Amino acid sequence: MTKKRKILVVTGGGDCPGLNAVIRAIVKRSRKEANWSILGSMVAFNGVLKDPMEIKKLNNKAIAGIHVKGGTILRTTNKGNPFDFPYRDDDGNWKIKDRSDELISRIRDLGVEAVISIGGDGSQRISQDLYEKGLNIIGVPKTIDNDLSATDYTFGFRTAVQIATDAFDKLVTTAESHHRVLILEVMGRDAGWIALHTSIAGGAEVCLIPEIPYDINKVVNRINKRYTKGRGFANIVVAEGARPVNGLAVSTENQEVGSEHVRLGGIAYRLSAEMKNAGCKADIRETVLGHVQRGGTPIAFDRVLATLFGVKAFEMVLNREYGKMVTYRNNDICTAPLKEAVTAYNFVKTNGTMVNSARGIGISFGD
Ligand code: F6P
Repeated sequence: MTKKRKILVVTGGGDCPGLNAVIRAIVKRSRKEANWSILGSMVAFNGVLKDPMEIKKLNNKAIAGIHVKGGTILRTTNKGNPFDFPYRDDDGNWKIKDRSDELISRIRDLGVEAVISIGGDGSQRISQDLYEKGLNIIGVPKTIDNDLSATDYTFGFRTAVQIATDAFDKLVTTAESHHRVLILEVMGRDAGWIALHTSIAGGAEVCLIPEIPYDINKVVNRINKRYTKGRGFANIVVAEGARPVNGLAVSTENQEVGSEHVRLGGIAYRLSAEMKNAGCKADIRETVLGHVQRGGTPIAFDRVLATLFGVKAFEMVLNREYGKMVTYRNNDICTAPLKEAVTAYNFVKTNGTMVNSARGIGISFGD
């Protein structure tokens, strides 16, 4: 019997609607070729590094109907960087060590020909580093933040925007009823795409994003004008990574060991306090949307994008296009070197069409 050719699929970093649709598409596309076996490492690369390894066979039964499900059937973590792998020493203290060589040799022991890593900026940086160490790896861009370069969109982003917009619409009716100012905090660590799209879709008065530091007096002037001389209520959208001019984003001080990033969150409360101090006359309430934006079923666009990404990723393995990432550019599925995707963030362009159009309909960025 001919030996099966094997691909290992990994989902890493924060989860995101559409991950399962990518996994399903890789498996389904592989069925069109003879002799492929698709494996999944449980909980990012941790499954390979465990003893015994935790590897899931991605057969037809495992992937049936999963494209509509949120989360990932392979589970995930943002504490699974093999180059900075967290472990407890003999005294029970958390330490970090480099297990990348061990990871590569374990993957080779499994007889795996190529790895498809579905993840955001942190995961794709790991992909690039593993590629430089000789691993045959391909990236698939995932993140609700849409902050990865080299692709116009990541899957999951539009679902998150829809969830945030639904929340915004609900906040508008209660803001109006109570003559209040309601602040909606959405995700977006480095890039304010979710906040910007939600503000335009919902019709916010103020949109605060990491790329445009805000001046609290300008925010309050805008809100007071709308509140006292206008409609008597107002809605603000703020990205978790937003910050005042000369200030920092709100973060949790103690970073979890091995975590990809500092934990952000809580800017809505700080903004509310700053607005009061700066003379905001209105009654203010805050809503932090949090992980609701990452959960649940992907909208149709993200299922389609994720499926196209999965098909392309498998075909890239067939063509041995390693060290590259699948991308979506100008309405087409393309590829780009991983290096290009991870060297810069996809920030909101402060003078681009989106921001200028938002300003055109009267949205203030607090600048
Ligand atoms: O990168 C996606 C993201 O959802 C960010 O917007 C957010 O800051 C972060 O992940 C939250 O991560 P965690 O789930 O680890 O708290």
